[in-house]
Amino acid sequence: MDFAPHTGAIDKKRTHCLIVGFHEKLKPTPSAELLDRASNGTLVKVLKREGFKARTGDTLLLHQLPGCRSDRILVVGLGKKKELSPAQFAKSIDATAKALTATHSKQALCALPEAQVEEVDIRWKARQLALRLQQGCYRFTSMKSEAGDLPVLSRVDFHLDDRQNSKELERGIIEGKAMASGMTLAKDLANLPGNVCTPTYLADQAIRLADRFSTVKVTILEESDMEKLGMGALLSVSRGSRQPAKLIVLEYLGAKAKDKPITLVGKGLTFDAGGISLKPAQNMDEMKYDMCGGASVLGTLLAAAEMALPLNLVGVIPASENLPDGEANKPGDIVKSMAGKTVEILNTDAEGRLILCDALTFTERYDPELVIDIATLTGACVVALGHHASGLLGNDDKLCQALLKAGRTSLDRAWQLPLWEDYQDQLKSNFADMANIGGRDAGTITAACFLSRFTEKFQWAHLDIAGTAWISGQNKGATGRPVPLLTQFLLDRAG
Ligand code: BES
Ligand code: MN
Ligand code: ZN
Repeated sequence: MDFAPHTGAIDKKRTHCLIVGFHEKLKPTPSAELLDRASNGTLVKVLKREGFKARTGDTLLLHQLPGCRSDRILVVGLGKKKELSPAQFAKSIDATAKALTATHSKQALCALPEAQVEEVDIRWKARQLALRLQQGCYRFTSMKSEAGDLPVLSRVDFHLDDRQNSKELERGIIEGKAMASGMTLAKDLANLPGNVCTPTYLADQAIRLADRFSTVKVTILEESDMEKLGMGALLSVSRGSRQPAKLIVLEYLGAKAKDKPITLVGKGLTFDAGGISLKPAQNMDEMKYDMCGGASVLGTLLAAAEMALPLNLVGVIPASENLPDGEANKPGDIVKSMAGKTVEILNTDAEGRLILCDALTFTERYDPELVIDIATLTGACVVALGHHASGLLGNDDKLCQALLKAGRTSLDRAWQLPLWEDYQDQLKSNFADMANIGGRDAGTITAACFLSRFTEKFQWAHLDIAGTAWISGQNKGATGRPVPLLTQFLLDRAG
C-alpha cells in the first residue's frame, strides 16, 4: 500500500473516500470544519440527524456531500477533544480501516493526522496510520481455493495543514510501512498450518528474505552441524519428529562491521503436541503458533532491512517440531546442552526452553551487544497477563526498561515479572544440573530462570508472547506481535 503527504484543499480533491474526524459533541477537526462550511452546514446537519456521537471507534459513511468532490466521506469519531490518548487514536484508526475496506475504495484521502493526540508527534501518528491501515487490510487466504472479497485499498494520502511537518510525516510513513511488512510476514508464517510451515519451510523463508536484501545474510545449520556443536538439548526435542530441525541464522549488516550486533532469538517450534507428555486435544491446533517467536524475528529483521536501520542484527531461530514418537524424549531423560550443563526432562512439553538454551549459547559466538529472546513459552503467562501484555524478564534492568518503553510507544506492551534468585531453587534436580520444569507455581518465571542459566555472558531479556502472539476463537489468527515492540526498540536504539 502506498502513502503520501497531501496539502491543499480537501473539498476540491477527487478521491474514492475522504476521511475526517469529529470529536464528541460534534466538535470538528479543522478538515471537518472546512467540509462543513463547503457543504453549507449539511455535514453537521446529517451527523445530527443520524445521531452520530463521535465516540472513539464510531464511524459513519456519507455519500455525495454538497460542495465536496469525493465520492464518499467517512466520518470518524475521535472521542472527547481533551482526552485523545494514543491508544484511543489507534482504536479510531482501526475502526477507520474496517469501515474503509468495506467501501471497496481503492484510494482515500485521510485527514486524521491533524488530530491532536496527547504526548505524540506527527511522525508517531503517521507511523500508526500507515501500520494500522495496512494491517486492517490483512487477510490470510493462501490456503483457500477461493480468496473471496479482498480489500482493494492501495493508496492513502495523509492530509496536512502545514507543510513543515511533511518530512516527519514521511519518516513515520516509512516506519509504519516497514512495521506492517514485518507483521504481515510474521502473521503469514504463523497462520500457515504445521504440515506446511515446517522447520525446513521456515529456513526457506529465511533464505528468501536474505535474497531480497544485500544487507542480509543467512546460514542454515543442519542437525549434523548441531551435533558437532553439542546441542544435545535442541536435538533431543527434534529426535521425536520426522522433520529435521534447522537452526536458522540471519545477519543484518546496517552499521560498521565491527559494531556488536543486537541479537534476537525466536522460538520456532512449528508444532507443539507436547511430546510424550502429550497435550490435551482441545485447541491443540493452536500449537501451530508455537513458532511465533521465530516468525517475529523474521518480521523484525525484514522491517529493519526495509528501513535500512544503522544497526547490526543477528536473528537466530531454532526450528523443530515436538511430537510423541518412539525416539522422542521421555520424562526422566537427561540431556546435555551445548553449554555443557545437563538437564533432566521431567516434562517433554517444556521443550521451548530446551531448544532455546542451545540457541542462546550459540549466540555467544557473535559477541552480542545484547540478546532478546522471544517465545510462546508458557501457558502460565496467559494466566498471569491474559492477552494484553507480553511477559518480560531479564538480567539487565536498563534493557528491560527500554523494551517496556518501546512497548508503550508502539502500543504493543509488555509487563515485567521478577527474575529473583529465590525462584531458581524450583529447578533443582536430583540427577542432573537442573530440571526442565519448576513446578506449578510461577511457571513463567521459572521458565525464564531456566533460560537465565544460559545467558550469563551477556545482557539479556526474554519476552514470553504466549498470550499475545495470536487470538483464539471466531477470529482465530496471528497478531504479528511483538514485531511492533521489537521494531520500535530498534528505532529507539538507532536514534
Ligand atoms: N508452547 C507451550 C506454551 C503455551 C501453551 C503457549 C499454551 C501458549 C498457550 C510450551 O511449550 C509448553 O507446553 N509449556 C508448558 C510448560 C510446562 C510443562 C512447565 C505449559 O505452559 O504448560
Ligand atoms: Mn510445549
Ligand atoms: Zn511449546
